Amino acid sequence: MRHLLEIDDLSPDELRTVLAFGAAPTSPRALDGKGMALLFEKPSARTRNSMEMAVVQLGGHPVTIRPDEVGLDTRETVEDVTRTLCCYHAAIGARVFEHAKLERMVAVSSVPVVNMLSDDAHPLQALADLLTLADEFGGVDALAGRSVAYVGDGNNVARSLALAAGMVGMEVRIATPVGYEMSAADLERLRAAGIEAACTHDPTEAVEGAHAVYTDVWASMGQEAQADARREAFTGFTVDAALMVATADDAVFLHCLPAHRGEEVSSEVLEGPRSRVWPQATNRMHAARGALAWLMEHR
Ligand code: CP
Ligand code: NVA
Repeated sequence: MRHLLEIDDLSPDELRTVLAFGAAPTSPRALDGKGMALLFEKPSARTRNSMEMAVVQLGGHPVTIRPDEVGLDTRETVEDVTRTLCCYHAAIGARVFEHAKLERMVAVSSVPVVNMLSDDAHPLQALADLLTLADEFGGVDALAGRSVAYVGDGNNVARSLALAAGMVGMEVRIATPVGYEMSAADLERLRAAGIEAACTHDPTEAVEGAHAVYTDVWASMGQEAQADARREAFTGFTVDAALMVATADDAVFLHCLPAHRGEEVSSEVLEGPRSRVWPQATNRMHAARGALAWLMEHR
């Protein structure tokens, strides 16, 4: 049985297969008559809705569970909640703070576990990001040699994006403020996947000639108390029209959303002609469907 906690749980070939499943015009009935539990410790607009609709498209029934309904490690242990959900469901998705909770789920689960975002990783987002870039640049095979520049916090979205883009042969550049870099362990993980990310503290250097510019919020869910300090630390890291001037002529702008206009991205860029944020949000559903169909084939 396979799980999807981070993009490198897939081999590069498997990643391409998942993307092909997601891009396919018809869906297999991979979850026909089956349930999928979707457990959220944090808020969500895109992930909840795209996962629910992906499960429906595969013939299944999604059951979304809010944190107060199960009380992970408060009312009941993560392990007991997981074993309980396995009694009814063919797959479990979870959005958690500590990534280790997902690993604890995997350790006792008899069904595939999917990471719907943890503090460390957001693989479903990265799959949608690749589908969006593939739509833009002529397919997954056409992405090799193109470059993506991530400007912002070296966070969960950055790590999954870097792994996904690197695994299809894209050049990965990451610009963060000092103190907000990706961790040494994350960079080592990239290297283990054969990816050497070009890291800098200069956004202009990162986006020079890039084919895609990507950013995410400066304070992630759970970091709200640091928002003011981060706003100050990230001064100069707004993706605005002046920064986009340095990119390739056909460059696109991506953002996982939710966006804070005027912070990590200007309204002008987010709403502008290079922005692909709505196709990207749409691709969350296709990516989820591809991932679930693949996981159900590999039970
Ligand atoms: N991009 C994303 O995961 O959005 P939500 O937090 O709304 O699910
Ligand atoms: N880095 C953000 C992504 C939201 C989709 C967070 O974790 O809150």
